[in-house]
Amino acid sequence: MKTRAIVGALCAVGLLSSGPMANAEDLEVLHWWTSGGESKAVGVLKDMMEKQGYVWKDFAVAGGAGSNAMKVLKARVLAGTPPTATQIKGVSIDEWAEEGVLANIDAATKGWDKEIPPAITKFLNYKGHYVAAPFWVHRLNWLYINKKLLDQVGGTPPTTWPEFFVLANKLKAAGIIPLAHGGQPWQDINLWEGVVLSKGADFYNKTIVDLDHGALTSATMIDVFDTVRKIASYFDPGTAGRSWNLSSAMVIQGKAAMQMMGDWAKGEFLAANLVAGKDYLCVPRPGTAKLFMFNSDSFMFFKKDGSDAATKGQVALAETITSKDFQHKAAYYKGAIPARSDVSMDGFDSCAQKSHDDFVAAIKDNALIPSLAHGMVQRDATLGAMRDVVTHFVNSNEDSKTAVQKLAQAAKVM
Ligand code: GAL
Repeated sequence: MKTRAIVGALCAVGLLSSGPMANAEDLEVLHWWTSGGESKAVGVLKDMMEKQGYVWKDFAVAGGAGSNAMKVLKARVLAGTPPTATQIKGVSIDEWAEEGVLANIDAATKGWDKEIPPAITKFLNYKGHYVAAPFWVHRLNWLYINKKLLDQVGGTPPTTWPEFFVLANKLKAAGIIPLAHGGQPWQDINLWEGVVLSKGADFYNKTIVDLDHGALTSATMIDVFDTVRKIASYFDPGTAGRSWNLSSAMVIQGKAAMQMMGDWAKGEFLAANLVAGKDYLCVPRPGTAKLFMFNSDSFMFFKKDGSDAATKGQVALAETITSKDFQHKAAYYKGAIPARSDVSMDGFDSCAQKSHDDFVAAIKDNALIPSLAHGMVQRDATLGAMRDVVTHFVNSNEDSKTAVQKLAQAAKVM
């Protein structure tokens, strides 16, 4: 006991440095992976870093899509005490880089340009230097269906909105909650953007990517809002404020039949030992069969002591995240597919296999669609304004014509 205390003290002052303590740099890591499946995935990283002798300081801030974590991050950076790394997605990386607070991790990026698709890497660098490391690719436009409940009403997976409503009516008539939704702003816009996508990739690109005024106020967009209104009529009374993983739990436990969510929800199904294709189905949301709406999580690294270059620990984190071993293990638990294209898909479930094939095809066919809701298209201010419009619509009796006018106004917020 005494010897251990002395060795510990010597290590702390740097007089002894062998074994795992050799790397004893603290890694304070901000993320919002707090659900069952998410914790397993981030746990893989924690273990791998601890094995290399780093001290993992978990800084988890619960709240789907990072809604709370990103507020906490801003406060920490403003206070001049950023974490070592933070979970982040897409366009925000550039916004942070412009503030001059990010460290470059070029030292960790050997092979990335070859093994990680440009659709992912284009978000990760700033002025020619990598500042973030990619975890995986999530497919957003999934619809999950509890197989037992589907069979109970003699239904089939819907491929169009009319088919969806036929099924929802059957379920409702049988006393089953058709759709588990969580009434939070990011989930509302996640649902809405899936309906926009069902109008085709061109329409999505014109409205969501180009913010074209004519398309934003078109009859097609009015129809999108009408469809969302109709979908919302199948929500259950417990919808308001519910987190996404509780909605997944409802489908897992047979309390609701369907959920529309990105494939991190699959991590929950896996953690509950449900088998894809047998206990539950995952199908593209109505009208989006050939399309792949995606986001990709990454860790972004902050400058420590004013130096542009990442610390040893930050480089090790980035290297570990993009190692083949981590990419395979963590994507499996997370319900995602690896960001690296040279990682084997062996052992992944049938949904992930399909996701992988569809991702490869979508890259070829130019059918890869960045998610607005998950920060892959517009900057924070624009996204926030559009999200407010959609969530207000979902939670009020506003008519679709008013909503599209507000949407077009919101799209001008830069
Ligand atoms: C997404 C993120 C996922 C998952 C999800 C739910 O934005 O990409 O990794 O955490 O939010 O919180």
